[in-house]
Amino acid sequence: MKHKFLLLLLAGTSFFLANGVQAQHENIPYQPVTNICQTCLCLSSQDSDHRTHFNLDCSVRNFEHILARWPEEFGSQAIAAGASSEIVVSYSGNRIKLLQQLPATNASLTLSCRHCGLQNLQVPLFMDVPNVEALYLSWNELTDDALVPDLFRGPFGSSRYEPIGLRDLDLSHNRIARLDRRLFEHTPHLTKLNLAYNQLSALDEATAASIGSVTTLQRLDLSHNGLMSLPAQLFPKLTALRILDISGNEFTVVPASLSQLSKSLVQLNLAGNSFLSLKGNSFQGLVSLKRLNISSMPSLRSLEEGALHLPALEELHCSRNSKLERLELVDLINSRNLTQLDLSRNALTTLVLNITSSNNATSNTEPWPRLRRLSISGNPWYCSCELFKTLELSGLSHIERETDGSEARCETPYLLAGSPISNLTAERICKMVIPKKYREVDEEPPRFLRRRYIILTAIIASIVLVIGLVIGFVVVCIRRRLKGSDYGVQPIRYTSVRGSNLSQFSQLQPASVASKFNNVHAGSSSGTTTGAANA
Ligand SMILES: *[C@@H]1O[C@H](CO)[C@@H](O)[C@H](O)[C@H]1NC(C)=O
Ligand SMILES: *[C@@H]1O[C@H](CO)[C@@H](O)[C@H](O)[C@H]1NC(C)=O
Ligand SMILES: *[C@@H]1O[C@H](CO)[C@@H](O)[C@H](O)[C@H]1NC(C)=O
Ligand SMILES: *[C@@H]1O[C@H](CO)[C@@H](O)[C@H](O)[C@H]1NC(C)=O
Ligand SMILES: *[C@@H]1O[C@H](CO)[C@@H](O)[C@H](O)[C@H]1NC(C)=O
Ligand SMILES: *[C@@H]1O[C@H](CO)[C@@H](O)[C@H](O)[C@H]1NC(C)=O
Repeated sequence: MKHKFLLLLLAGTSFFLANGVQAQHENIPYQPVTNICQTCLCLSSQDSDHRTHFNLDCSVRNFEHILARWPEEFGSQAIAAGASSEIVVSYSGNRIKLLQQLPATNASLTLSCRHCGLQNLQVPLFMDVPNVEALYLSWNELTDDALVPDLFRGPFGSSRYEPIGLRDLDLSHNRIARLDRRLFEHTPHLTKLNLAYNQLSALDEATAASIGSVTTLQRLDLSHNGLMSLPAQLFPKLTALRILDISGNEFTVVPASLSQLSKSLVQLNLAGNSFLSLKGNSFQGLVSLKRLNISSMPSLRSLEEGALHLPALEELHCSRNSKLERLELVDLINSRNLTQLDLSRNALTTLVLNITSSNNATSNTEPWPRLRRLSISGNPWYCSCELFKTLELSGLSHIERETDGSEARCETPYLLAGSPISNLTAERICKMVIPKKYREVDEEPPRFLRRRYIILTAIIASIVLVIGLVIGFVVVCIRRRLKGSDYGVQPIRYTSVRGSNLSQFSQLQPASVASKFNNVHAGSSSGTTTGAANA
């Protein structure tokens, strides 16, 4: 009895809650449609294939809701016509907190609601819009709770919900931290998924399984999410993935799971991560990779030998790595199809291409016959013979450089500081005698020079020492002599004055009297006279 009552109460509560939520959404009014083309911009056109295009631009109209129906101007025929007509509708820049269920159409639909302040999405969104093609919901306030699997379910078929045609989904710049494991079960055609600028810092098992289930995926953007690693279960089924953006995350090493994309991956963006160096074999197995971006890494110091061993590489963007001092150009020798090489704004001083040590097939021909764009500006180049030989050997010197208007210039040696590299040739640099005093000394100074410096210093020091000693000796001598004449003699003179003259004066009277009396005795010896007088 008690149990039954409890169950009933529970059922009742849940029914009430479910109904309440449903009702809440159903009661929300839609934006009225009458004369909507006076408020929004309505365009329709037909292309050469007799495909009708409808464009409904309701962006920045202070709407709080979407339209309940499609404008009458579009015509009911076209709305029902299926994928032979296309509707592109934008509600971006309004204040639409809840995106309601979309009005029915069989046309292919592209919907944007960017910067809408969206917090919720009505479930199901596309029940009457099976041919939705693209959904752009970036720059909103969507959280994990808004993204439930039923959101994407199509019309109910004979036994199950039909899938929808969604190909392109942009959920970037929202507040998504994890995804439901079954989120994409109704979207078997999804090829492009953008989750950039969310909070997916730890791809937990469900999130990885969710993304990893979209076997049709060709482009995936997980940039700027605070990611530190990619789980191994993310990629095994994504055999069609061609373009991956994981820039602006916190990776310190190239995720090992990337090698699971070996055959399919064509473009990879790793820019703005926290790599210290790229080790050899970092991109092992990525045999199809054509475009690689490893720019804007403030802590990247070196690309070690073997790091860029990418046979299919066509574009390498390695720029704005303010500490990058080492890059092995030899790695790129096997990338025969290289067309663009951007090495600007790093801390590179030289480039070495040791052709003899590499593939001999390239020794007589240019290594990169298709190279069209090269940027090496903004590096502190040491303009050595070696650098210019490398540039000429590799055919890099003939390429039209510096697409952004800044020129590559020498920083050292001082004689060439500031000279544009394009103005110099290997012939000139290799012949040039750089005065020794201008030569770079911090990079292995010649031994003899160092020894000579030491000897010179020693000689100067000893000369100074000898001069000092001589001066000191002379000063001492002079002082001795002065002492000898001033202090050494004078006391003797004093005593003699006291002893003879002064005592003579002080004891004068009796002695003089005596001498006056004994003139003969005083003349022979005054000492005896005084002594006798004193006594
Ligand atoms: C879309 O097509 C189906 C059958 O192809 C049809 O039943 C349905 O009414 C159409 N929907 C609209 C909105 O015209
Ligand atoms: C490389 O990535 C950075 C950061 O995402 C970006 O600013 C830059 O435009 C990219 N370069 C290319 C050529 O895609
Ligand atoms: C270079 O390009 C050619 C033609 O585009 C292609 O056939 C060849 O396979 C490419 N080489 C590599 C190593 O990808
Ligand atoms: C170039 O390669 C040869 C042979 O492998 C080696 O002896 C030489 O030291 C290398 N030179 C440079 C500058 O790496
Ligand atoms: C490259 O070296 C191999 C053997 O070392 C030789 O058989 C081949 O002919 C060389 N190729 C060229 C283009 O010199
Ligand atoms: C390039 O070199 C020439 C002489 O070789 C010189 O007259 C000219 O001023 C240099 N240009 C620049 C921009 O330094």
